[in-house]
Amino acid sequence: MSVFQATASAPVNIACIKYWGKRDTKLILPTNSSLSVTLDQDHLRSTTTSRADPSFKKDTLWLNGKDDPIKEGGRLATCINELKRLRKVLVEDKDASAPKLSTYAVHIASYNNFPTAAGLASSASGFAALVSSLAKLYELPSTPSELSLIARQGSGSACRSLFGGYVAWEMGTKADGSDSYAVEVAPQSHWPEMHAVICVVNDAKKGTSSTSGMQRTVETSALLQHRIKHVVPKRMADISAAIQARDFDAFAQITMADSNQFHAVALDTEPPIFYMNDVSKAIIALIVEYNRVALEKTGHLKAAYTYDAGPNAVIYTLQENAKEIVELIHKYFPQKEAFNDRFQLFGGEGVKGK
Ligand code: PMV
Repeated sequence: MSVFQATASAPVNIACIKYWGKRDTKLILPTNSSLSVTLDQDHLRSTTTSRADPSFKKDTLWLNGKDDPIKEGGRLATCINELKRLRKVLVEDKDASAPKLSTYAVHIASYNNFPTAAGLASSASGFAALVSSLAKLYELPSTPSELSLIARQGSGSACRSLFGGYVAWEMGTKADGSDSYAVEVAPQSHWPEMHAVICVVNDAKKGTSSTSGMQRTVETSALLQHRIKHVVPKRMADISAAIQARDFDAFAQITMADSNQFHAVALDTEPPIFYMNDVSKAIIALIVEYNRVALEKTGHLKAAYTYDAGPNAVIYTLQENAKEIVELIHKYFPQKEAFNDRFQLFGGEGVKGK
């Protein structure tokens, strides 16, 4: 008897231009485009195995070994049902001999090899791996951009983890979301010197989820409206040009400015949301000073900090500076004293290729 099973893995991505705000909460359509770098770190991945079998009673997901109920009408169910629909339309309706996998229930097991929901983009890698494993199981003839349309409906930022390297999520304008997908800006090989140093300041589950935080920001922040109309479009164009030209100074300036504005928008929310803590802010001060000295000595910036919906820092830098930055962080934030053993550094690995 045939076994219908497939495994896929996806890495996290960390945005330089942040996605924050939905114009459609069901389809997950954003209020602005965003751009990220996909990390190539073995210890920041989700790996998902999907299996279809006529004997299975219902779709079931195990997340890190625990049963994670699939809510009817929820995001997981939306992704699974859409992939089953594509299996039927693109494969079974075209080839009568293809097994009717779309009619079988699926069992899905997914593992994150890093803390879940701690501001380390676990939902991004998680939904990207889930969509990829089901697309493989169903033998769908889909491109990463097409799959990104489905992953987007699981978690917005997940659509960007379908590509390696430098990735944009074009917000699109259509009400049905058919033009809101991820595209490659440049492959990892275009600028392989880019590295990310990740400082896990705190790996506890975050306070305000991105879903409820975004909703509150959309409803209450005037600064968000300014950001959407007058800031992000130019930054998307400028950072894409910086990536094409491998211009780290421009890349770093835009990345840090956009992280700052995202956290300003969170603060401008009613009631305000604080994602960074005092350690996050101290790391910013250290990078600002490090860059000031570098600029004086060499005329160039060496590092770019960015923070998502949590206190952990991601520091983008070029390979030649990665070791120095890891040492600098260790020097100013000695693990045991300051962080009660919870501070971890994932040092200096490259970005993910295709
Ligand atoms: O995809 P979500 O709902 O987890 O939202 C992610 C939001 C940020 O990480 C803060 C920004 C981004 O673009 O990834």
